Amino acid sequence: MIKQAIIPLAGLGTRLLPLTSVFPKELLPINGKPGIEYILDECIEAGIKEIIFIISKKKNMIKNYFNNDIFFKTIIKKKKDKRISNEYKKILKYKKMIKFVYQNNPLGTGDALLKTKKLIKDNYFLMLLPDDLIIKKNCSKAMISIHKKYKSSVMASMNVDKKTVSRWGIFNVKKKINKHNFIIKDVVEKPSQKDAPSNKAVIGRYILPKIIFKKLLKQKSGKDGEIHITDTIQLLIKNDLKFIGHNFAGKYLDCGTMNGYIKSSLEIAKI
Ligand code: G1P
Repeated sequence: MIKQAIIPLAGLGTRLLPLTSVFPKELLPINGKPGIEYILDECIEAGIKEIIFIISKKKNMIKNYFNNDIFFKTIIKKKKDKRISNEYKKILKYKKMIKFVYQNNPLGTGDALLKTKKLIKDNYFLMLLPDDLIIKKNCSKAMISIHKKYKSSVMASMNVDKKTVSRWGIFNVKKKINKHNFIIKDVVEKPSQKDAPSNKAVIGRYILPKIIFKKLLKQKSGKDGEIHITDTIQLLIKNDLKFIGHNFAGKYLDCGTMNGYIKSSLEIAKI
């Protein structure tokens, strides 16, 4: 069973400046609810029992949001507002499940993941990137089922416009399993259009093996000087570890850019 999920939240959010110069993007409300809560709800519905938040000192506001008992208790006492007391109950539920670790220098997803090394208990865990919202169908839940069936690592995949391949990790397909799943031959971080092996992009949902930590310890920096999990995953694939790409059924919303963020609110309001 996959019981633990990791969410890297220490990124600077430069694509959403100037808002993110004072406010963590993951707390920005999407249709009245902080973006991070959509990710938490996806995890909980998929059966996750513990969630590890990787934050930084600059993003302590995220920790405060989930540890704000005094504020809630005083307000609830005074106001007896049903909506606020329901929100409080929900936040208490989240709080019991969340552990915090720190990545104070944003050196990449691989470096972020390493900060959780001591906390991972089982052979596999889930990782979710908070910019990538997937609505209408629980992607993590579907990936956990695939993991159970094939006993392998799994990554979410989506076909993207060829002109945008350099914004994503891109897959090279080894073998199609069925309409929604394929065995991954290679994965390359943000290739040029010329070098991209396909238009199948990595979307931020990963089921990863615990042994990735051993490789991460030796991982050198890659694209733009960052330590990318994509590079470590490629190494694991080359060491004959099975990774499955899953074309998810839900709708993808990119909350990491201003246009995407605005569109996300509109899309979610329609549900
Ligand atoms: C990260 C990953 C990339 C993946 C993308 C999905 O990139 O490094 O492989 O395709 O998330 O959103 P970032 O968005 O941090 O630049």
